[in-house]
Amino acid sequence: MGFIFILLSFLVPALVSLLLLPKTLRFGVELLGNSLRRSSRTRRGLLLDRVASETRRYEAQRKGRKEDDDWEQIGSIPPGTEVEDGTADSEWDGIVGFFHPFCNAGGGGERVLWAAIRATQKRWPKATCVVYTGDHDVDKVAILKRVTDRFNIQLHPPTIHFLYLTTRDWVLASAWPHFTLLGQSIGSLVLAYDAFTLLVPDIFIDTMGYAFALALSSFLFPTVPTGAYVHYPTISTDMLDSLQAGGQGINAGTGSGYRGLAKKRYWQLFAKVYCNVGSTIDVVMTNSTWTQSHIKSLWGPYRIKRSKTNEIDVVFPPVAVEEVTEAVEVSEESEKKRGPYILYIAQFRPEKNHRLILEAFASFVHSKPNLPAYPDETPKLVLIGSVRNSHDDAKRVYELRLLAHELHIRENVEFICDAPWPLMLEWMNKASVGVNGMWNEHFGIGVVEYQAAGLISVVNNSGGPKLDIVVEVDGKPTGFHATTAEQYSEGFRKALTLSPQNTLAMRQRARKSAERFTDRGFADKWLKNTEKLVALRIERASK
Ligand SMILES: *[C@@H]1O[C@H](CO)[C@@H](O)[C@H](O)[C@H]1NC(C)=O
Ligand SMILES: *[C@@H]1O[C@H](CO)[C@@H](O)[C@H](O)[C@H]1NC(C)=O
Repeated sequence: MGFIFILLSFLVPALVSLLLLPKTLRFGVELLGNSLRRSSRTRRGLLLDRVASETRRYEAQRKGRKEDDDWEQIGSIPPGTEVEDGTADSEWDGIVGFFHPFCNAGGGGERVLWAAIRATQKRWPKATCVVYTGDHDVDKVAILKRVTDRFNIQLHPPTIHFLYLTTRDWVLASAWPHFTLLGQSIGSLVLAYDAFTLLVPDIFIDTMGYAFALALSSFLFPTVPTGAYVHYPTISTDMLDSLQAGGQGINAGTGSGYRGLAKKRYWQLFAKVYCNVGSTIDVVMTNSTWTQSHIKSLWGPYRIKRSKTNEIDVVFPPVAVEEVTEAVEVSEESEKKRGPYILYIAQFRPEKNHRLILEAFASFVHSKPNLPAYPDETPKLVLIGSVRNSHDDAKRVYELRLLAHELHIRENVEFICDAPWPLMLEWMNKASVGVNGMWNEHFGIGVVEYQAAGLISVVNNSGGPKLDIVVEVDGKPTGFHATTAEQYSEGFRKALTLSPQNTLAMRQRARKSAERFTDRGFADKWLKNTEKLVALRIERASK
């Protein structure tokens, strides 16, 4: 502890001064950058040779197989085409470095990484993508196989390579029991330095939230443009606010007393450093509107000072929307298959607010709604969720059944536990409305699936479902927002009493809205932003 304290008391001022670097010091830093660049020159040559020989071998094998490759077919922009603004930079043949020390983890963050690399490979077929990773136990073949198995993403093997970092332990939270935020950020500086000794890329992109690594890059190599894809701010304005008395969350009110004061100062200082760091990044993308607004309020003012003019853009991560759109029809014909059914797909967890949805539905049913579009059918609420391995969830289902009984809607409510995917698709074909009761959900993949299936959504007036998903398309709504049980009930009524034309039109808008979350929607926006990086690189390299 004592050691760490001393270490930090040196590092904090060092870090701050690094950010407010005087000219002479900056010159020294650039010298260091140049020497790193020189020493990685040989490795760069070797890497490019390897890319060339692997490409030849790959081509030869493909001629042998003579079968069409997936890689040629998917993706939005055929290789070698010009972009809208006419800049023919498709020939660009530089090296894009992706900083993703945990690349084999197989989570949502990795899906973004691989989808991003695939899009980049297609857009710039002559460029090379390298991933800086700490996963020593897996080689390229094993990683690429996992990418295919886990995410169904086919990368082009010759132009992707992996460089192995040896200092990954520095960024583990366990390495920094105290001052974890700052510690991990310092750790990421060490890790980034490790990366640069392996190879200095032409463009450097972080996809894991290590903003400090990007700042280091921009100090060492001013001609290397940097990009960040931010899933979550390292420190959020909510966190800072929570220290105030009356705040919410685990740190609520701990801002008082000496300890609290110290903690507050530490967070404020960290936030300041983080904001400075964020202002060095050339192109910033976030995974949601929520993250965008936090990053904007932290980095925005500092970015203006440093005249970083690129907008902080929302680039939604890809979701498997196509699986739904292929299986569910949205047309005049398919309207006949749908009934006045309201679908709620969610785990049986308290925060999903099933109780309130049952109450809202009861009040809707008891109001004896007149549904001209469904003359012979009674409305139904279908709750689909998993209770696998959870005694608590099973108990909640039991309690919800009791509640449905008490509310006199037992005949109108169907519980389906652990439904297999085909059964879920069947209900997406039959239902008319999709509901979500959770408050402040960060995103809501389930709601995207409703939209893909053409369901009219009724969701809480908060979080991702409000800001990102159930938004207007062509200036018209794709669903309804509600807060209280009454408003939900009203939402059901509105959704089920639209005229046939308006119903179909809203379903089609909902499906269009879901397209933003497809692989293709992601690739288009990713490339729009990466094109800025390539343009910057070409401009800076020509100086
Ligand atoms: C963005 O990333 C955060 C952190 O991983 C996650 O909680 C959130 O759901 C993501 N948002 C989207 C739109 O995927
Ligand atoms: C929906 O969100 C509002 C805040 O916008 C919250 O007050 C309310 O309790 C939420 N309702 C449900 C059913 O979660």
